[in-house]
Amino acid sequence: MHLADLQEYMTYMSQLGFTGLALETDPFILTPQRKVPAPRLVVTPKADPPSKPKGPNLVDIMESVNLTMTEEDTQTMVNGVTGNDPVEVLRNLYKIFRSCESCALGTTRRKFVFGEGPHNARLMFVGEAPGEDEDVTGRPFVGAAGKLLTRIIEAMNLSRNEVFITNVVKCRPAGDRPPLPDEIGSCSPVLVKQIETVKPEIIVALGATAFRFFKGGNGSIMRGRGNMLEWRGIPVMPTFHPAYILRNPRSKREVWEDMKKVIAILAR
Ligand code: URA
Repeated sequence: MHLADLQEYMTYMSQLGFTGLALETDPFILTPQRKVPAPRLVVTPKADPPSKPKGPNLVDIMESVNLTMTEEDTQTMVNGVTGNDPVEVLRNLYKIFRSCESCALGTTRRKFVFGEGPHNARLMFVGEAPGEDEDVTGRPFVGAAGKLLTRIIEAMNLSRNEVFITNVVKCRPAGDRPPLPDEIGSCSPVLVKQIETVKPEIIVALGATAFRFFKGGNGSIMRGRGNMLEWRGIPVMPTFHPAYILRNPRSKREVWEDMKKVIAILAR
């Protein structure tokens, strides 16, 4: 490794909250070095306004019934969310799906975790599915893996509130198992609509579930990470999930290599 690369890597490590070489032996020290500003949520779950417009609209209809939906139904609902204002589109998408019971996860989750970030974010991170902290708060990546993700974002010289963060599946699978194919299938139209609305310049796929969603098929993240994909014209960088980095601290180096490619695209 060249000296310049080593210096850059050490800076990245220290921005992630690790200090010195003890890092490799004690990867779970996760004390932030600086305060993370509270994220600015552009698409914030809002309470319903006191008075609604007269006559049912799609949101009213969908909220009034408990549906067991197929993937096709989910797609039909998503197709009903139209408009030119991306903030409104995201808000309506959230309102329609926040009570979704399209798959079994809808009956066991505490909160639907839509995702958050600016409607016009240049960079989008897509993880697998909410964990317990996310299920409780309704916000993506707020647990230990999320704190690490925030540090990775900051090491890229970005702040968490300027990227869009979401998951392939919006409800927590009980016991944090990977989501099943039918769960991914019925939830994915929501992610697709989010991407079509936000129109990020690049997406980072965190972990195997997100990688497979964008690549199609059953590929291995071990082999796929670091190799840029293209999904509907958008570059997608697959990398390790932050939860995997926590378990395998040596993988930080590879993730940083992947993030450097993302930074290069954003700098173009
Ligand atoms: N893991 C994920 O994949 N997503 C989250 O939001 C949290 C943990």
